[in-house]
Amino acid sequence: MRVAIRTCDQADTISLGERLGAMLQPGDVVALTGELGAGKTTLTKGIARGAGIEAEVFSPTFTLIHEHPGKLPFYHIDLYRIESEDLLPDLGLDEYLYGQGITVIEWSERMGSLLPDTALQIRLAVADETERDIELTASYHRWDEVIQELAKYADSRP
Ligand SMILES: Nc1ncnc2c1ncn2[C@@H]1O[C@H](COP(=O)(O)OP(=O)(O)O)[C@@H](O)[C@H]1O
Ligand SMILES: [Mg+2]
Repeated sequence: MRVAIRTCDQADTISLGERLGAMLQPGDVVALTGELGAGKTTLTKGIARGAGIEAEVFSPTFTLIHEHPGKLPFYHIDLYRIESEDLLPDLGLDEYLYGQGITVIEWSERMGSLLPDTALQIRLAVADETERDIELTASYHRWDEVIQELAKYADSRP
């Protein structure tokens, strides 16, 4: 299953994230890829909001993992600053990935084979100054309905 959505500004990306966040369930993993400034953290802010997290999500400076308490625990992992993928096993990520919370990962391509293949994959790309192309794909059927709902939502925007 796959859908491509173009957002027209930051608020549009946050709204899309909120729609997604509201549909997430315990154990879900959302894997984000895309260059610096593509909108990964912005989308994560929306996802967290939709999932009922009150604290503001931001770009972690040195911390690789941010844990936000909420209705469901929300784990925001950002691998931008990981020095080597050899260090991944030391982070104990399985506790998050296979736990009862929601996990969103920026720079998820750096997870390599440690990324669960059940993850919802979201690729973000800069289209122009205020537009972003956001492509959602998944092979795990848990995501079929979610992707369909988001496609419907995207089409319904003015
Ligand atoms: N449509 C859009 N969606 C998301 N961010 C956008 C959009 N248009 C412009 N921006 C800007 O792009 C930047 C995205 O930054 P950020 O979300 O931190 O990216 P990343 O985490 O991928 O490095 C922000 O400065 C934001 O204001
Ligand atoms: Mg970021």
